[in-house]
Amino acid sequence: MFVCNCNGLREHAVEEAADHCQSVPELFKKMDCRPKCGRCVNEIGALIKARGRKKAKRRYHATAEGLCRATKTSSLS
Ligand code: FES
Repeated sequence: MFVCNCNGLREHAVEEAADHCQSVPELFKKMDCRPKCGRCVNEIGALIKARGRKKAKRRYHATAEGLCRATKTSSLS
């Protein structure tokens, strides 16, 4: 499925790029293109935010897990 019809950007490619971008202009730059009609801009912006939240959650859980393991390990010894 295309997210941006003007540039032929597929959802999968945009999601991958969104993991490494903070903004819509940054994503277009990474994809080596520019917005044309602008219809996709809101959707891409929402995608970047959603991916950012998922990454933050994963980081939080990884940190929390690490702390729990460290606490359990240190309390056992
Ligand atoms: S659909 Fe993305 S710029 Fe037109």
